[in-house]
Amino acid sequence: SQRAARAVINVDLPGPVISRHLYGHFAEHLGRCVYGGFWVGEDSDIPNEGGIRLDVVEALRALDVPNLRWPGGCFADEYHWRDGVGPREQRPTMVNTHWGNVEENNHFGTHEFMALCELLGADPYVNGNVGSGTVREMSEWVEYLTRDGDSPMVRLRKANGREEPWRVPFWGIGNEAWGCGGNMRAEYYADLARQYATYCRDHGGNTLYRIAAGARDGDVSWTETLMKAISHLGCKKRPSGYYQGISFHYYTLAGPWENKGSATEFTEDDYYRTMLAARGMDDVIASHSRVMDCYDPEATVGLVCDEWGTWWDVEPGTNPGFLYQQNTLRDALVAGVTFDIFHRHARRLFMANIAQTVNVLQAMILTDGERLIRTPSYHVFEMNKRHQDADSLPIHLTTSGTTRAVGDSELETLSVSASAKDGRMLVSLTNLDASSPVSVTFDLRGGGLEDHRGRILTAPALSTHNTAEAPDAVSPRTFDAFTATANGLTVELPPHSFVTIEGRLLTAG
Ligand code: AHR
Repeated sequence: SQRAARAVINVDLPGPVISRHLYGHFAEHLGRCVYGGFWVGEDSDIPNEGGIRLDVVEALRALDVPNLRWPGGCFADEYHWRDGVGPREQRPTMVNTHWGNVEENNHFGTHEFMALCELLGADPYVNGNVGSGTVREMSEWVEYLTRDGDSPMVRLRKANGREEPWRVPFWGIGNEAWGCGGNMRAEYYADLARQYATYCRDHGGNTLYRIAAGARDGDVSWTETLMKAISHLGCKKRPSGYYQGISFHYYTLAGPWENKGSATEFTEDDYYRTMLAARGMDDVIASHSRVMDCYDPEATVGLVCDEWGTWWDVEPGTNPGFLYQQNTLRDALVAGVTFDIFHRHARRLFMANIAQTVNVLQAMILTDGERLIRTPSYHVFEMNKRHQDADSLPIHLTTSGTTRAVGDSELETLSVSASAKDGRMLVSLTNLDASSPVSVTFDLRGGGLEDHRGRILTAPALSTHNTAEAPDAVSPRTFDAFTATANGLTVELPPHSFVTIEGRLLTAG
């Protein structure tokens, strides 16, 4: 049948603001994310500022990175921050037991991370250690970073070369407490989260948004336990805030955990199973949101997906503990549908962090010595960046012939979202169908669009990826396969493509 869709948008009836923090990032001490990725050291031949790679900074600045989470992940719960301050050559070493059992020299520590955030223009999201740390250790880290005036930690910070306190808006209270973060039960962790959060003080003008370590995938009972722990008055009353956000992690896999498959060599079946898994994010957010709505109907507590992305087998010949994988058009399309899902949940979802920014899992950037490659996923983040802090525009979508069976499920292969900001509208469209185009007609009510500009990300094959030899095999091109009228738009979307259309918004009246 004819594959077509109609999308009705009331441009004068915007929904909730799409938090810019949904476009957040993640840098863990894992494989070559920090060492070799962000950090090469001051003596490197690779151009750097204080040891931080400038090519990586330049590439990421084009994404308007809103926040960067660090130092983990699982690593966060065995990281002791005092080992990472002071003269580098005197810093103690440790073993990174989670990731490759390699020795960590602590050369990239608190000051280096804060310098990186400053270079990126990103808000720091520091993830503290609950699993193997102490309340005092975490409390002193907050003091070290954010307190002004005179105090033991302020004196230590100044002795290490930093006079002024930093601004740290986001603070994680452990990570995956149900697993690598201490194998705790939900009730026990909820109490610890309240306790640790109590001693993570707001110093001076710095106000922390504390994020409790949340569920794996759709484990809503974990979320409910964390909500109950801050809701003294029971369901449907406003919770009191020890923590202001609750996280969860969701990764996209094509198959079972034991057999994730290759990043670049996959069948069409693998591809569609991947897309079904990516679409699964919608249900997971909806389930957590339903539980949170019960305890917090006004959505004062934020949901934070601080790890998401694709997870494949590592590239052949690389350390299995380093999680280094290639990134193809398939990964980019996962990012396209995932952002549409995030936009639809803008009311409750406050932050999300791609795992991870450089050289690990669904990376934005791959480095090889002095070379840098922008991945297909990078381009989706760049093409979508104007959604950050924009008003979401809810879409009423009716499709015909765009679903296909995947196992026992139906996969909708068309995904669309739209937003408006500063008098401009951005529409994102993803066609997941591997071989068929789709025609999408937009009916814009209460306004129109002019000065349209279209861009497309696609490639000959789903597995096309960028390499040092072909760095732009998957990169955005101008797209003009659309026709515009005063109040509408018809877009001919090619197979396996991600498209953005931006224009000046004309509101009626
Ligand atoms: O992102 C890689 C790892 O995945 C993180 O360290 C952990 O939190 C998750 O299991």
